[in-house]
Amino acid sequence: MALDQDGRRMRVLSITSGKGGVGKTCVAVNIAYWLSRLGAKVLLLDADLGLANVDVVLGLRPAHTLEHVLSGERTLPEIMLEGPGGVKILPAGSGVARLVELGEEDRMQVFQEFDSLAEPFDYLIVDTGAGISRNVLYFNSAVQDVIVVATPEPTSLTDAYALMKVLSEKGRGYRFRVLANMVADEREAKGVFARLSMVADKFLNISLGYLGHVVSDPNMPLAVRRQQAVSVLFPKTPAVRCLRVLSDRLHNLPPDVFPAGHMQFFWRRLAAQRA
Ligand SMILES: Nc1ncnc2c1ncn2[C@@H]1O[C@H](COP(=O)(O)OP(=O)(O)OP(=O)(O)O)[C@@H](O)[C@H]1O
Ligand SMILES: [Mg+2]
Repeated sequence: MALDQDGRRMRVLSITSGKGGVGKTCVAVNIAYWLSRLGAKVLLLDADLGLANVDVVLGLRPAHTLEHVLSGERTLPEIMLEGPGGVKILPAGSGVARLVELGEEDRMQVFQEFDSLAEPFDYLIVDTGAGISRNVLYFNSAVQDVIVVATPEPTSLTDAYALMKVLSEKGRGYRFRVLANMVADEREAKGVFARLSMVADKFLNISLGYLGHVVSDPNMPLAVRRQQAVSVLFPKTPAVRCLRVLSDRLHNLPPDVFPAGHMQFFWRRLAAQRA
């Protein structure tokens, strides 16, 4: 298994969904937070072009984004922000669209900068946008472990299925893990998983993993309105208890279940990816 300079492995995972507004950004921020609390170094890449980005949810005001790195005005370390629990945040902003449009060589150049980041990370978590747009597919394509957030709503399930279908047709060995959000309890979450699992197995011939669930909790939107991580604001609220369990579970997945590699490897794969 690939190790980076000081012998650490980096796990790369994307948090994605078919339908928008199912809680990806909240989940990404809070999983990043708890992983960081467990002692891991976490980089959260905000690759969502939407409005409710990581920075908005956390009340951060990035002066510069990946866009400025692409135009040569800033370096990567200069645009990184510090989030709760010491999580590092890389705001992509409108740089995402530009990145997708660049040719492979130009992208390689950008990613060379990532290689030179001094700080080793244990996790790279990519908060993608929703749906099957070019940007979302682009980021998911470079990741092996895709966490698909779905809610019990029928449209969330059909859209999650559509996304997994498109990705699996790209023919790479993805591992999809379902995270059921805004559920009443674990039983309902298992129902969400069972429904997705059945169609994925039958029509896509892939088996899905079950990551876990987050209950519906009024403190989630409240924390978003206050622009703070719910885990910091309401550490004992039921949704946060679920998020802690999920983060522990992710952190404890054995290496063979959750392969990791060089950070460089991820960036190069991203650069070589055809959007
Ligand atoms: N478990 C939950 N219980 C209640 N509300 C939730 C829960 N998870 C997320 N929400 C709320 O749902 C809304 C959307 O969440 P979020 O912005 O994280 O979704 P998203 O999938 O990232 O959206 P987008 O597709 O626009 O990027 C937020 O107001 C958030 O507070
Ligand atoms: Mg979002």
